[in-house]
Amino acid sequence: MMRPDPRHFLDLTDFSSEELRRVLDASAAIKARRRKGEPAGERPLAGKVLAMIFDKPSTRTRVSFDIGMRELGGETLMLTGSEMQLGRGETIADTARVLSRYVDAIMIRILDHDAMLELARHATVPVINGLTKLTHPCQIMADVLTFEEHRGPIKGRTVAWSGDANNVLASWVHAAARLDFTLNIASPPELSPSEELMAWARREGARVSLTTDAFEAVAGADAVVTDCWVSMGDEDEGRRHNLLQPYQVNGKLMAAAAKDAIFMHCLPAHRGEEVTDEVMDGPQSVVFDEAENRLHAQKGILAWCLGALEG
Ligand code: CP
Ligand code: NVA
Repeated sequence: MMRPDPRHFLDLTDFSSEELRRVLDASAAIKARRRKGEPAGERPLAGKVLAMIFDKPSTRTRVSFDIGMRELGGETLMLTGSEMQLGRGETIADTARVLSRYVDAIMIRILDHDAMLELARHATVPVINGLTKLTHPCQIMADVLTFEEHRGPIKGRTVAWSGDANNVLASWVHAAARLDFTLNIASPPELSPSEELMAWARREGARVSLTTDAFEAVAGADAVVTDCWVSMGDEDEGRRHNLLQPYQVNGKLMAAAAKDAIFMHCLPAHRGEEVTDEVMDGPQSVVFDEAENRLHAQKGILAWCLGALEG
Protein backbone atom coordinates (compact mmCIF):
# COMPACT_ATOMS: atom_id res chain seq x y z
CA MET A 1 0.00 0.00 0.00
CA MET A 2 1.21 3.50 -0.73
CA ARG A 3 1.84 5.65 2.34
CA PRO A 4 0.33 9.13 2.09
CA ASP A 5 2.98 10.61 4.36
CA PRO A 6 6.28 8.84 3.86
CA ARG A 7 8.83 9.11 6.62
CA HIS A 8 11.83 10.36 4.70
CA PHE A 9 15.33 10.47 6.21
CA LEU A 10 16.75 13.39 4.24
CA ASP A 11 18.64 15.56 6.70
CA LEU A 12 19.13 15.82 10.44
CA THR A 13 17.62 19.33 10.25
CA ASP A 14 14.21 17.75 9.64
CA PHE A 15 14.25 16.02 13.03
CA SER A 16 13.55 17.13 16.56
CA SER A 17 16.20 16.29 19.14
CA GLU A 18 13.83 13.77 20.69
CA GLU A 19 13.17 11.94 17.44
CA LEU A 20 16.87 11.73 16.61
CA ARG A 21 17.57 10.42 20.09
CA ARG A 22 14.86 7.80 19.60
CA VAL A 23 16.47 6.53 16.38
CA LEU A 24 19.95 6.55 17.96
CA ASP A 25 18.76 4.65 21.02
CA ALA A 26 16.99 2.10 18.84
CA SER A 27 20.18 1.60 16.82
CA ALA A 28 22.18 1.06 20.01
CA ALA A 29 19.58 -1.43 21.29
CA ILE A 30 19.59 -3.34 17.99
CA LYS A 31 23.39 -3.49 18.15
CA ALA A 32 23.36 -4.72 21.75
CA ARG A 33 20.96 -7.54 20.85
CA ARG A 34 23.09 -8.56 17.87
CA ARG A 35 26.18 -8.59 20.08
CA LYS A 36 24.45 -11.01 22.45
CA GLY A 37 23.71 -13.24 19.49
CA GLU A 38 19.99 -12.60 19.72
CA PRO A 39 18.03 -12.46 16.46
CA ALA A 40 16.76 -9.04 15.37
CA GLY A 41 13.29 -9.43 16.86
CA GLU A 42 10.62 -10.95 14.63
CA ARG A 43 12.27 -9.79 11.41
CA PRO A 44 10.42 -6.47 11.60
CA LEU A 45 11.01 -5.63 7.93
CA ALA A 46 9.98 -9.01 6.52
CA GLY A 47 8.34 -8.55 3.14
CA LYS A 48 9.80 -5.05 2.66
CA VAL A 49 12.11 -4.14 -0.18
CA LEU A 50 14.62 -1.27 -0.19
CA ALA A 51 15.76 0.02 -3.58
CA MET A 52 19.25 1.51 -3.48
CA ILE A 53 20.24 3.96 -6.20
CA PHE A 54 23.97 4.60 -6.43
CA ASP A 55 24.97 7.35 -8.78
CA LYS A 56 28.42 7.41 -7.10
CA PRO A 57 30.69 4.72 -5.65
CA SER A 58 30.25 3.33 -2.15
CA THR A 59 31.53 0.52 0.04
CA ARG A 60 30.16 1.16 3.54
CA THR A 61 26.80 2.71 2.68
CA ARG A 62 26.04 0.03 0.13
CA VAL A 63 27.03 -2.96 2.24
CA SER A 64 25.62 -1.68 5.53
CA PHE A 65 22.20 -0.89 4.06
CA ASP A 66 22.15 -4.23 2.27
CA ILE A 67 23.13 -6.29 5.30
CA GLY A 68 21.06 -4.13 7.66
CA MET A 69 17.92 -4.63 5.58
CA ARG A 70 18.51 -8.40 5.36
CA GLU A 71 19.17 -8.76 9.07
CA LEU A 72 15.83 -7.05 9.75
CA GLY A 73 14.12 -9.55 7.44
CA GLY A 74 13.81 -7.37 4.33
CA GLU A 75 15.36 -7.41 0.89
CA THR A 76 17.27 -4.96 -1.25
CA LEU A 77 17.51 -4.06 -4.88
CA MET A 78 20.69 -2.43 -6.20
CA LEU A 79 20.35 0.15 -8.97
CA THR A 80 23.01 2.35 -10.49
CA GLY A 81 22.19 5.68 -12.04
CA SER A 82 23.86 4.92 -15.35
CA GLU A 83 22.04 1.62 -15.80
CA MET A 84 18.65 3.17 -15.14
CA GLN A 85 16.58 5.20 -17.58
CA LEU A 86 17.54 8.15 -15.38
CA GLY A 87 20.83 8.08 -17.28
CA ARG A 88 18.86 8.49 -20.52
CA GLY A 89 16.77 11.42 -19.43
CA GLU A 90 13.81 10.00 -17.49
CA THR A 91 13.01 12.57 -14.84
CA ILE A 92 13.77 11.99 -11.21
CA ALA A 93 10.11 12.74 -10.42
CA ASP A 94 8.87 10.01 -12.76
CA THR A 95 11.52 7.63 -11.41
CA ALA A 96 10.18 8.34 -7.90
CA ARG A 97 6.59 7.70 -8.98
CA VAL A 98 7.48 4.42 -10.66
CA LEU A 99 9.76 3.02 -7.95
CA SER A 100 7.13 3.88 -5.34
CA ARG A 101 4.82 1.36 -7.04
CA TYR A 102 7.37 -1.44 -6.62
CA VAL A 103 9.35 -0.99 -3.43
CA ASP A 104 8.81 0.05 0.19
CA ALA A 105 11.69 2.53 0.54
CA ILE A 106 14.39 4.14 -1.60
CA MET A 107 17.95 5.00 -0.58
CA ILE A 108 19.80 7.31 -2.95
CA ARG A 109 23.42 8.46 -3.27
CA ILE A 110 23.62 11.32 -5.72
CA LEU A 111 25.73 14.48 -5.67
CA ASP A 112 22.86 16.77 -6.68
CA HIS A 113 21.11 17.51 -3.38
CA ASP A 114 18.10 19.04 -5.14
CA ALA A 115 17.67 15.85 -7.17
CA MET A 116 17.54 13.88 -3.91
CA LEU A 117 14.91 16.30 -2.56
CA GLU A 118 12.97 16.07 -5.82
CA LEU A 119 12.94 12.28 -5.54
CA ALA A 120 11.56 12.58 -2.01
CA ARG A 121 8.91 15.11 -3.10
CA HIS A 122 7.52 12.72 -5.67
CA ALA A 123 8.01 9.39 -3.90
CA THR A 124 5.14 7.94 -1.94
CA VAL A 125 7.53 5.69 0.00
CA PRO A 126 10.31 6.82 2.37
CA VAL A 127 13.48 8.20 0.77
CA ILE A 128 16.83 8.02 2.58
CA ASN A 129 19.72 10.37 1.77
CA GLY A 130 22.77 8.14 1.29
CA LEU A 131 25.08 11.13 0.62
CA THR A 132 24.81 14.21 -1.55
CA LYS A 133 27.35 16.93 -2.23
CA LEU A 134 25.81 18.86 0.67
CA THR A 135 25.14 16.34 3.44
CA HIS A 136 25.66 12.80 4.73
CA PRO A 137 23.17 12.37 7.58
CA CYS A 138 23.33 8.55 7.88
CA GLN A 139 27.08 8.83 8.50
CA ILE A 140 26.62 11.17 11.42
CA MET A 141 24.06 8.88 13.06
CA ALA A 142 26.78 6.19 13.09
CA ASP A 143 29.35 8.73 14.26
CA VAL A 144 27.25 9.82 17.23
CA LEU A 145 26.64 6.16 18.14
CA THR A 146 30.40 5.63 18.04
CA PHE A 147 31.20 8.71 20.10
CA GLU A 148 28.69 7.71 22.77
CA GLU A 149 29.99 4.13 22.96
CA HIS A 150 33.48 5.40 23.65
CA ARG A 151 32.88 8.60 25.57
CA GLY A 152 29.30 8.55 26.89
CA PRO A 153 26.52 11.04 26.06
CA ILE A 154 27.59 13.56 23.42
CA LYS A 155 25.50 16.34 24.94
CA GLY A 156 27.80 19.02 26.34
CA ARG A 157 30.94 17.47 24.86
CA THR A 158 33.30 18.96 22.26
CA VAL A 159 33.97 17.62 18.78
CA ALA A 160 36.65 19.18 16.56
CA TRP A 161 36.72 19.05 12.77
CA SER A 162 39.97 19.67 10.93
CA GLY A 163 39.86 19.82 7.15
CA ASP A 164 37.56 20.48 4.22
CA ALA A 165 34.13 21.78 5.23
CA ASN A 166 32.36 19.14 3.14
CA ASN A 167 29.10 17.18 3.22
CA VAL A 168 30.11 15.16 6.31
CA LEU A 169 30.96 18.33 8.21
CA ALA A 170 27.60 19.88 7.28
CA SER A 171 25.77 16.96 8.88
CA TRP A 172 28.02 17.30 11.97
CA VAL A 173 26.87 20.94 12.19
CA HIS A 174 23.25 19.81 12.02
CA ALA A 175 23.89 17.21 14.73
CA ALA A 176 25.60 19.76 17.00
CA ALA A 177 22.42 21.84 16.98
CA ARG A 178 20.06 18.92 17.55
CA LEU A 179 22.13 16.97 20.09
CA ASP A 180 23.56 19.95 21.96
CA PHE A 181 27.32 19.51 21.72
CA THR A 182 30.08 21.95 20.81
CA LEU A 183 31.61 21.71 17.35
CA ASN A 184 34.89 23.51 16.65
CA ILE A 185 35.68 23.68 12.94
CA ALA A 186 39.12 24.37 11.51
CA SER A 187 39.30 24.76 7.75
CA PRO A 188 41.16 26.93 5.25
CA PRO A 189 39.20 30.07 4.29
CA GLU A 190 38.88 28.79 0.71
CA LEU A 191 37.20 25.56 1.91
CA SER A 192 35.26 26.81 4.90
CA PRO A 193 31.57 26.13 5.59
CA SER A 194 29.01 28.06 3.56
CA GLU A 195 27.57 31.19 5.08
CA GLU A 196 24.16 29.54 4.75
CA LEU A 197 25.24 26.61 6.95
CA MET A 198 26.82 28.86 9.58
CA ALA A 199 23.76 31.13 9.57
CA TRP A 200 21.55 28.07 10.11
CA ALA A 201 23.73 27.04 13.06
CA ARG A 202 23.46 30.52 14.58
CA ARG A 203 19.69 30.59 14.13
CA GLU A 204 19.41 27.22 15.85
CA GLY A 205 21.58 28.44 18.75
CA ALA A 206 24.20 25.75 18.03
CA ARG A 207 27.63 26.01 19.64
CA VAL A 208 29.63 25.93 16.40
CA SER A 209 32.90 27.86 16.07
CA LEU A 210 35.07 28.43 13.02
CA THR A 211 38.82 29.06 12.85
CA THR A 212 41.63 28.57 10.38
CA ASP A 213 43.87 27.15 13.13
CA ALA A 214 43.60 23.38 13.56
CA PHE A 215 45.39 23.48 16.94
CA GLU A 216 42.93 26.03 18.26
CA ALA A 217 39.96 23.88 17.15
CA VAL A 218 41.17 20.64 18.72
CA ALA A 219 42.31 22.15 22.05
CA GLY A 220 40.51 20.15 24.76
CA ALA A 221 38.27 18.34 22.24
CA ASP A 222 36.80 14.92 23.09
CA ALA A 223 36.91 13.81 19.46
CA VAL A 224 38.97 14.90 16.48
CA VAL A 225 37.29 14.29 13.13
CA THR A 226 38.43 14.69 9.57
CA ASP A 227 37.60 13.48 6.07
CA CYS A 228 39.26 13.21 2.68
CA TRP A 229 40.72 16.27 0.99
CA VAL A 230 39.04 15.47 -2.31
CA SER A 231 35.39 14.50 -2.03
CA MET A 232 33.43 12.95 -4.86
CA GLY A 233 32.87 15.67 -7.44
CA ASP A 234 35.90 17.73 -6.34
CA GLU A 235 38.44 15.74 -8.34
CA ASP A 236 39.24 18.62 -10.70
CA GLU A 237 40.27 21.05 -7.95
CA GLY A 238 44.05 20.64 -7.81
CA ARG A 239 44.71 23.25 -5.11
CA ARG A 240 43.15 21.23 -2.30
CA HIS A 241 46.29 19.36 -1.28
CA ASN A 242 48.20 22.56 -0.58
CA LEU A 243 45.33 24.24 1.19
CA LEU A 244 44.56 21.27 3.43
CA GLN A 245 48.06 20.16 4.41
CA PRO A 246 48.02 22.22 7.66
CA TYR A 247 44.81 20.40 8.68
CA GLN A 248 46.28 16.89 8.52
CA VAL A 249 45.46 14.89 11.64
CA ASN A 250 48.81 13.58 12.86
CA GLY A 251 50.31 12.73 16.22
CA LYS A 252 51.11 16.35 16.98
CA LEU A 253 47.54 17.52 16.35
CA MET A 254 46.04 14.62 18.35
CA ALA A 255 48.33 15.53 21.25
CA ALA A 256 46.70 18.96 21.38
CA ALA A 257 43.22 17.45 21.97
CA ALA A 258 41.98 16.08 25.32
CA LYS A 259 44.18 13.25 26.60
CA ASP A 260 41.53 10.59 25.99
CA ALA A 261 40.22 12.10 22.73
CA ILE A 262 39.08 9.70 20.04
CA PHE A 263 39.90 10.01 16.34
CA MET A 264 37.04 9.59 13.87
CA HIS A 265 36.89 9.42 10.07
CA CYS A 266 33.92 8.33 7.95
CA LEU A 267 36.30 6.46 5.59
CA PRO A 268 37.57 5.88 2.98
CA ALA A 269 40.76 7.41 4.36
CA HIS A 270 43.65 8.64 2.29
CA ARG A 271 46.54 7.71 4.53
CA GLY A 272 49.35 10.23 4.44
CA GLU A 273 46.98 12.98 3.32
CA GLU A 274 44.24 13.99 5.79
CA VAL A 275 45.46 11.47 8.39
CA THR A 276 48.72 9.68 9.15
CA ASP A 277 49.07 5.93 9.69
CA GLU A 278 50.17 6.71 13.24
CA VAL A 279 46.75 8.19 14.04
CA MET A 280 44.63 5.83 11.90
CA ASP A 281 46.21 2.77 13.51
CA GLY A 282 46.85 4.33 16.91
CA PRO A 283 45.07 3.68 20.21
CA GLN A 284 42.80 6.72 19.91
CA SER A 285 41.38 5.69 16.54
CA VAL A 286 37.81 4.33 16.49
CA VAL A 287 37.40 4.42 12.72
CA PHE A 288 36.52 0.75 12.27
CA ASP A 289 33.97 0.84 15.10
CA GLU A 290 32.56 3.83 13.25
CA ALA A 291 32.39 1.84 10.01
CA GLU A 292 30.69 -1.05 11.83
CA ASN A 293 28.20 1.34 13.36
CA ARG A 294 26.98 2.29 9.91
CA LEU A 295 25.26 -1.11 9.94
CA HIS A 296 23.57 -0.58 13.29
CA ALA A 297 22.63 3.03 12.52
CA GLN A 298 21.12 2.05 9.17
CA LYS A 299 18.90 -0.44 10.95
CA GLY A 300 17.55 2.24 13.28
CA ILE A 301 16.96 4.53 10.30
CA LEU A 302 15.27 1.81 8.23
CA ALA A 303 13.04 0.78 11.14
CA TRP A 304 12.06 4.42 11.71
CA CYS A 305 11.32 5.04 8.03
CA LEU A 306 9.23 1.89 7.73
CA GLY A 307 7.31 2.42 10.97
CA ALA A 308 8.90 -0.54 12.74
CA LEU A 309 10.80 1.28 15.45
CA GLU A 310 10.24 -0.18 18.87
CA GLY A 311 9.21 1.95 21.83
N1 CP B 1 31.53 6.61 4.73
C1 CP B 1 30.91 6.25 3.60
O1 CP B 1 29.83 6.73 3.26
O2 CP B 1 31.58 5.32 2.88
P1 CP B 1 31.18 4.77 1.42
O3 CP B 1 31.44 5.88 0.45
O4 CP B 1 32.08 3.61 1.23
O5 CP B 1 29.74 4.40 1.43
N1 NVA C 1 33.23 13.65 1.79
C1 NVA C 1 33.32 12.39 1.13
C2 NVA C 1 32.62 11.34 1.92
C3 NVA C 1 32.73 9.96 1.36
C4 NVA C 1 31.99 8.95 2.18
C5 NVA C 1 32.77 12.49 -0.28
O1 NVA C 1 31.73 13.14 -0.45
O2 NVA C 1 33.36 11.92 -1.20
